[in-house]
Amino acid sequence: MAGQGLKHLALLHGVNLDMLGKRPREHYGTLTLPELESRVSNYARQRGFVVHTFQTNHEGVMVEHVHGLVASNTDAVIINPGAWTHYSYAIRDALELVPAPIAEVHLSAVDQREEWRRTSVLADLATVRVSGKGLEGYFQAVELLAREVVSGRAPHRGLPNDD
Ligand code: DQA
Repeated sequence: MAGQGLKHLALLHGVNLDMLGKRPREHYGTLTLPELESRVSNYARQRGFVVHTFQTNHEGVMVEHVHGLVASNTDAVIINPGAWTHYSYAIRDALELVPAPIAEVHLSAVDQREEWRRTSVLADLATVRVSGKGLEGYFQAVELLAREVVSGRAPHRGLPNDD
């Protein structure tokens, strides 16, 4: 447990998100992943979180990283799984084991792009879902998770609160 009642937030990025800054800016903006992580970490610190960042392009590595969160003192998770969102039952099943509220965040408006991006196989696990708001979407997720953690409620799943 971090000092001064700080809570632990895992900020997870999946496949291809290490390429932020080079990806189509109309969808993903211009921030690199280190810049985004730093902005979100600073924001989250003001809300009482210590942020632990992680990115991988390997599905099994992400699964094992999530396994590591299961028995840890992680209080909340933000994940942008990239394209895994749309088909990775393996990552979905791993996340199901994490006893903390989960926010699914997408920089782009996944519901307004190709048909296949409209499916999220982990949506039912997410307490918070935000898409199409760029960096601001992560800030929103931090706010909502902070409220959730303070409430002490058991993580509830699948609220359609992407508004
Ligand atoms: C994304 C949306 C996904 O469809 C895509 O595959 C990504 C990024 C987003 O942040 O908008 O890699 O998760």
